[in-house]
Amino acid sequence: MFELTDKVAIVTGAGSKRGIGRSIVLGLAEQGAKVVVCDVDFDGAKAVAEEVEKKGVESLAVKVDVINEEDINQLVEKTIKKFGKIDILVNNAGITQPVKVLDTTAEDWDRIMDVNLKGSFLCTKAVLPSMLEQKYGRVINVSSVSGKRGGGVFGGAHYSASKAGMLAFAKALSREVCPRGITVNSVAPGLVATDIRGGVESQEKQKEMTADIPCRRMGKPEEIAATVCFLASKEAGYITGEDIDINGGSHMD
Ligand SMILES: NC(=O)c1ccc[n+]([C@@H]2O[C@H](COP(=O)([O-])OP(=O)(O)OC[C@H]3O[C@@H](n4cnc5c(N)ncnc54)[C@H](O)[C@@H]3O)[C@@H](O)[C@H]2O)c1
Repeated sequence: MFELTDKVAIVTGAGSKRGIGRSIVLGLAEQGAKVVVCDVDFDGAKAVAEEVEKKGVESLAVKVDVINEEDINQLVEKTIKKFGKIDILVNNAGITQPVKVLDTTAEDWDRIMDVNLKGSFLCTKAVLPSMLEQKYGRVINVSSVSGKRGGGVFGGAHYSASKAGMLAFAKALSREVCPRGITVNSVAPGLVATDIRGGVESQEKQKEMTADIPCRRMGKPEEIAATVCFLASKEAGYITGEDIDINGGSHMD
């Protein structure tokens, strides 16, 4: 079950050494998918693509800024040229900023919204024609618990709003494209030990940050990847517009 042999996946923001995107790439590759690794950090993307190739699975690294439409068009072109189709898109690229609303500038707001929300829209729109043509596709947004519980974790209200927007976008798009074979879902991770907050915190700091979380620890990137791989599989074909919490119990609904 859940195997992805012959599937072609694109994962954005996947060049971070300890990031969720890298784990998603490795998880999809382990299930047999060919994976296109994109990131604005091209060296990071290349390093992750090399890890995939070492597993004997084909991969491609592409420099993509998810708010640059020219980059995204190139990404789709290169993917189709090398692999012939696109089956899976994971909108994982994201940034955060811990700032109060009164200290948030219009530029801060736009930057967070652009990368997290508009970037997901632009990448999704670009891959849809290929998915619609084959009447099959899986789009998975990496949202956040902040988008569900209204912040209070890390990142300002603009981050929460962008992540809530990703959830709503997945639901609305599901209604449009699920009749044509494409499911659109989200995962909503809680605190995960990655570099998004400026470096992985010390064990002591992690203990403090997770004192109120029922699982009493941060999540691991591979725990997010496992759910993404499930949603990417054909077995998840009757799930759409859903958001799955992966947060150690920090938010339950
Ligand atoms: N780590 C957490 O606690 C946590 C919790 C909930 C949700 N998330 C979400 O998970 C996703 C991955 O985050 P992470 O924790 O692995 O962080 P990370 O910083 O390790 O990885 C994010 C990656 O996105 C890339 N990126 C940033 N801007 C980009 C752009 N404009 N175009 C393309 N790539 C870009 C970065 O270069 C980086 O490689 C993000 O969407 C984040 O909001 C993370």
